[in-house]
Amino acid sequence: MIAIENLKKSFGENQVLKGVNLNVEKGETMVVIGRSGCGKTVLLKLIIGLLKPDTGSILIDGEDITKVKYKRLLDIRKKVGMLFQASALFDSLTVEQNVGLALRRHSKLPDKEIREKIQKCLAVVELNGIERLLPSEISGGMKKRVGLARAVAMDPEIVLYDEPTAGLDPVTAQGIIRLIIELQNRLSVTSIAVTHDLETAYEIGDRIALLYNGRIHFVGTPEQIKTSEDRVVRQFINRETV
Ligand SMILES: Nc1ncnc2c1ncn2[C@@H]1O[C@H](COP(=O)(O)OP(=O)(O)OP(=O)(O)O)[C@@H](O)[C@H]1O
Ligand SMILES: [Mg+2]
Repeated sequence: MIAIENLKKSFGENQVLKGVNLNVEKGETMVVIGRSGCGKTVLLKLIIGLLKPDTGSILIDGEDITKVKYKRLLDIRKKVGMLFQASALFDSLTVEQNVGLALRRHSKLPDKEIREKIQKCLAVVELNGIERLLPSEISGGMKKRVGLARAVAMDPEIVLYDEPTAGLDPVTAQGIIRLIIELQNRLSVTSIAVTHDLETAYEIGDRIALLYNGRIHFVGTPEQIKTSEDRVVRQFINRETV
């Protein structure tokens, strides 16, 4: 479903991705772990075409999104939902408007159905009743959940999660993890989640990839990564500095 090959991205002198290779099967949840600043968010932004790579390819359903025309990219993006690291809600729009943004812009559904759909998405994240509030009037954890509702509003085939549980209390974090697992089971979406939180990775990942020094250093099931004897993997897992 997603095939990334020899992906490189630098910002000036800063070589962030030095040749990333990664394949994600249909219906699979791949979790990319790695230290803060190693390029996880950059990788996700490349996958939805918000950034352009220096070289390399990103096939989504067989189509190289680094080569397609902008208009086609916008179409492909409709298949992809993204939960941004800082939620990235629009400050001047209500919760209802934020969740319904893409639906109102891109679907041809009548307004009544759009409203129902928004209600459904908010119900999934247990947030009915706050439709009229602005992002500044809700908590950080609620923003994350609104971001999640927005990410799935268009029934995406692919969902990308950037740090879905960072900065949340353990109970809310567990709720988000439960939600992600439920979405996977119910909608059988293909997902990539990036996080530096190992517990989240173990719980939601079918496979886990360790991004290290600009490359995918290791890919394996949670069990394989837990029992790996690779030095870099061990150091990350044991929370030592590498
Ligand atoms: N638009 C940009 N312009 C210049 N440098 C950037 C840009 N975006 C990211 N970087 C750099 O790329 C590197 C990787 O950043 P990125 O946000 O991907 O890290 P991360 O792995 O997501 O970290 P965290 O876990 O803290 O979110 C950093 O050195 C950052 O400064
Ligand atoms: Mg990040």
